[in-house]
Amino acid sequence: MTTLELLDPSIGFVQEEIDSSIDLHAEIDRLRREKNAVLLAHYYQEPEIQDLADYIGDSLGLARQAAETEADIIVFAGVHFMAETAKIVNPTKKVLLPDLNAGCSLADSCPADEFARFVDAHPGHTVISYINCTAATKALTDIIVTSSNAKHIIGQIPADQPIIFAPDRNLGRYLAKESGREDMVIWDGVCIVHETFSEKKLIGLKARHPGAPVLAHPECEEAILRHADFIGSTTAIRRQASENSATTFIVATEEGILHQMQKDNPDKTFIAAPPESGCACNQCPHMRLNTVEKLYLCLKHEAPEITMPEETRLRALKPIERMLEMSVGVS
Ligand code: 13P
Ligand code: SF4
Repeated sequence: MTTLELLDPSIGFVQEEIDSSIDLHAEIDRLRREKNAVLLAHYYQEPEIQDLADYIGDSLGLARQAAETEADIIVFAGVHFMAETAKIVNPTKKVLLPDLNAGCSLADSCPADEFARFVDAHPGHTVISYINCTAATKALTDIIVTSSNAKHIIGQIPADQPIIFAPDRNLGRYLAKESGREDMVIWDGVCIVHETFSEKKLIGLKARHPGAPVLAHPECEEAILRHADFIGSTTAIRRQASENSATTFIVATEEGILHQMQKDNPDKTFIAAPPESGCACNQCPHMRLNTVEKLYLCLKHEAPEITMPEETRLRALKPIERMLEMSVGVS
């Protein structure tokens, strides 16, 4: 069977029976060396994938790695907009995503045609979009930001210059408050994972662990951020866990991040902030579509691959380049 036949576009990942005697970790290692491939993974991937990665990071770190890599193939263990960003900055390289269905509720909440009408309705505004959006939405944007550099970049926009921020309303409101830009026009999108945390349960957890700092991602709702001792990107949250002398922490973001925090600090305790119901809703269902099996098959067959029209890529590249220029020194 050819790779094309194995990759039914309506399924979105390579389907092939894997011999149970195969050591998948060793095979992934062999294939990436043979093919000069690099494996980039986001903190929200399952721990087994994080441990296989050449680089683990937040959205800004991953975009920088993708821009700088000398590998011929980038395998992205993350979601579609992240792999797309890697392709935008690296058109000559093959960019692979183990499962093309690994989307993002924020990116889905901002379809490019609707966003184009929104932008047209607000002439004269600088359009700032969170990196969690599609290439087509990026193509309508002036500057891309991530949760690491958004405050820093917005601080460089003249105070009298009106701003549109998309697609995350929680991050937008947080940034508007932090930067004193209360007139920021904000698109009404939300992350299904970060809206899941229960304020009532968080208050209960804080009562049971007095003194445990609450570390929260700015995609969380305001009701959760109100209780946070520290707000930052996944990389900033990870760093804070090591730098803060507390021994117990409550963490309000996708629970995959706890893996690195625990590895960095084996003697500290990390408690995932509880979701509203008893579900595992604090695990991103999109990120978790990537599995070690799909990763192996993706490297083996070099599919599925990220592609996009060159015109869209070129238009989406400009706001990403502006982001990289405007966030020199941000880590
Ligand atoms: P960062 O990795 O930039 O903190 O963003 C979190 C996220 O939700 C990625 O989808
Ligand atoms: Fe998108 Fe939220 Fe998943 Fe991040 S955690 S990829 S913002 S749905």
